Amino acid sequence: MTDEPVTDGKGFGAIAWPIRTERLEIRPATEADGPATWHYRRQESVTLWITRAQPDRELYLADFTEPSRLAKTLVIVLDGRVIGDLMLAIEDAWAQAEVRDRARAVQAELGWSLDPAYTGNGYATEAVAELIRICFEELHLRRVIAQCFANNESSWRLMERVGMRRESHDVRGSLHRSGEWLDGLTYAMLADEWRSARTGAL
Ligand SMILES: CC(C)(COP(=O)(O)OP(=O)(O)OC[C@H]1O[C@@H](n2cnc3c(N)ncnc32)[C@H](O)[C@@H]1OP(=O)(O)O)[C@@H](O)C(=O)NCCC(=O)NCCS
Repeated sequence: MTDEPVTDGKGFGAIAWPIRTERLEIRPATEADGPATWHYRRQESVTLWITRAQPDRELYLADFTEPSRLAKTLVIVLDGRVIGDLMLAIEDAWAQAEVRDRARAVQAELGWSLDPAYTGNGYATEAVAELIRICFEELHLRRVIAQCFANNESSWRLMERVGMRRESHDVRGSLHRSGEWLDGLTYAMLADEWRSARTGAL
């Protein structure tokens, strides 16, 4: 096993999908998952917070099936049904010019959406905890981050449930489609922190 980050350009590396957790399956999204994700991604409680709220089904599906989007999207499956999706976007860390090569593809930004019919059962917690394990144990990344509007309490509480640390709270730094400038939060976790927490839990 290598400690080098996976930099194959596909992001998900040579992982044996699907990955199973106690109740769920996680696997890379395919074009065929478009309609199932549209079912919940068009619902108001979800569109309120996600980056793109696309009200037109065909445009949504065209966007969902973009290779660059599929390449960073996983789906959460419960009993054969897609109940949510995850973003795993591998990216470079900031670095000074002379060491930039060593900072390529070493971290990931994570994201998530769950069908409102399935919230409140710990499914997102289970899926995101596994996503973090994948990042550190399978992809050998050194850091994961996630961002949300400060008003999106469900999302930042999820980050805290999976052990991420609040790193920044920016004041009115992010424009919501309502036209309002809102506070934003960034959470992160380092591979070292994840390993220590796991060891401590044993
Ligand atoms: C963010 C989001 C995924 C969180 O969903 P969620 O249902 O709150 O999270 P979980 O599935 O982990 O469920 C946690 C809840 O189930 C409860 N729960 C029940 N069984 C549980 C278990 N086995 N493990 C953990 N929690 C459990 C928890 O107590 C918690 O309830 P609470 O919020 O009343 O305290 C969801 O709100 C969502 O999709 N929002 C819209 C999209 C969005 O905001 N995306 C992020 C943009 S930044």
